[in-house]
Amino acid sequence: DDSFTSAMTLTNSGVPQVPDRYVLPPSQRPVLGSSIGIRFYSRNHFSTVTTLPVIDLSLLHQPLLRSSVIHEINMACKEFGFFQVINHGIPPSVIEGALDAATQFFDLPVEEKMLLVSADVHQPVRYGTSLNHSTDRVHYWRDFIKHYSYPLSKWIDMWPSNPPCYKDKVGKYAEAAHVLHKQLIEAISESLGLEKNYLQEQTEEGSQVMAVNCYPACPEPEITLGMPPHSDLNSLTILLQSSQGLQIMDSNEKWISVPDVEGALIVQLGDQVEVMSNGIYKSVIHRVTVNKDYKRLSFASLHSLPLHKKISPAPELIDVNNAPAYGEFSFNDFLDYISSNDCEHQRFIDTLK
Ligand code: SIN
Ligand code: FE2
Repeated sequence: DDSFTSAMTLTNSGVPQVPDRYVLPPSQRPVLGSSIGIRFYSRNHFSTVTTLPVIDLSLLHQPLLRSSVIHEINMACKEFGFFQVINHGIPPSVIEGALDAATQFFDLPVEEKMLLVSADVHQPVRYGTSLNHSTDRVHYWRDFIKHYSYPLSKWIDMWPSNPPCYKDKVGKYAEAAHVLHKQLIEAISESLGLEKNYLQEQTEEGSQVMAVNCYPACPEPEITLGMPPHSDLNSLTILLQSSQGLQIMDSNEKWISVPDVEGALIVQLGDQVEVMSNGIYKSVIHRVTVNKDYKRLSFASLHSLPLHKKISPAPELIDVNNAPAYGEFSFNDFLDYISSNDCEHQRFIDTLK
């Protein structure tokens, strides 16, 4: 059944239950109300608590503190492929503006949003629901609009013209996220012991896609998800969330809810960085839970290497003791793979090993 029904339409119509196509098999359902950003180990009758890393990026500019921040980034990327950043330089007004524009966009009548609907993943501007409503066997409780965002002047005319503030407000956020991405890539490069510019040179001329997600209040959040477990295919994702809902998988395959830290943005390593780091850093596996009471919005700024550039482990990380752990591929090979395979249970980069 490939008829289009948005999650927002279902919520607005007041359905008391989610339709069958949203119901996950019991083994894949989330256990809600689990630990929030805190992992408990109970061995030998005592327990310790670990919180997820939150990094103060302003300290990168303080010469005496830079190396300890780089060390924190190294630890976070090794253990989680994930961290949150505060004092990241994007003004609260820019963030609020983007969230406001997204709220107004998703509140538009569905007929208007449908003008942008497409199942073709290569469309530069695309409204949709679930992951891909025309191919998903199980549907996810999510509506989205995705658009190419860099260079901004090349794409912005194609973005939604309603609400009238959308281009300006989301454009400002997209530009700020692009600047932040460069700083992060530089710090991550340094944290791997690579030439500071190494990853930046690889990502030069790369793409930025903004995925704006809306997860409306859901009548049965315990049997469905907003997004299934996955790692991002790109190099780096900067994520802005309006409220809690993201969960990441830790090294013990336990799901941890990411706390909503005031003013923070989330940084997620994608598969391209895992490969370039030769597996020293891992891309983070994450999923999105939904809730009964309110709508959650998120902006995923997806940064990637250029479509046809070959991606491989950094030569500096390869020696007699460290063979390349992955074969070469390009982002384009990746997209071909996901559009022609059922990869719900296999990550593309694992096929390169
Ligand atoms: C994503 O995985 O791209 C979306 C995450 C989120 O909405 O928090
Ligand atoms: Fe993701």
